[in-house]
Amino acid sequence: MNILVVNGPNLNLLGTREPNIYGNYTLTDIENWLNNKIKNKAIKLDWYQSNHEGEIIDKLHMAMNENVDAIIINPGAYTHYSYAIRDAIAAISIPTVEVHLSKIKSREKFRRTSVIKDVCLKTFSGLERHSYLKAVNFLKTIAS
Ligand code: DQA
Repeated sequence: MNILVVNGPNLNLLGTREPNIYGNYTLTDIENWLNNKIKNKAIKLDWYQSNHEGEIIDKLHMAMNENVDAIIINPGAYTHYSYAIRDAIAAISIPTVEVHLSKIKSREKFRRTSVIKDVCLKTFSGLERHSYLKAVNFLKTIAS
């Protein structure tokens, strides 16, 4: 199972970015941790990060031609207002799971809305790096 893991703006700054909210791990730490956790060699994670909405949309479109079985996406702040990313997820018809490190429902009002939620199979939020692990485990159950 090939899973594309898409990370949006400012997630390249994890480790130093508001560690009280997002934790102390860098995105590379999270990548290495999750890659090592996955003992099942049949699951391959392809990690991608961009600070640009259009690049994220292009990456989602490319997934249609790249043998991608499922997508895990943390769109960062785009979660709350990018109808373009929402439409891209809907257009590609690849099972997608939304993840967040922080608990978006318990933060500022603007973060309580996710415009991508309805086009994703499931959302994991507030579990720091474990949100990504939960997403992989969830995708495993729907694939089997
Ligand atoms: C985030 C939550 C968003 O509100 C924020 O803009 C992010 C990260 C999270 O993982 O908790 O950049 O998606």
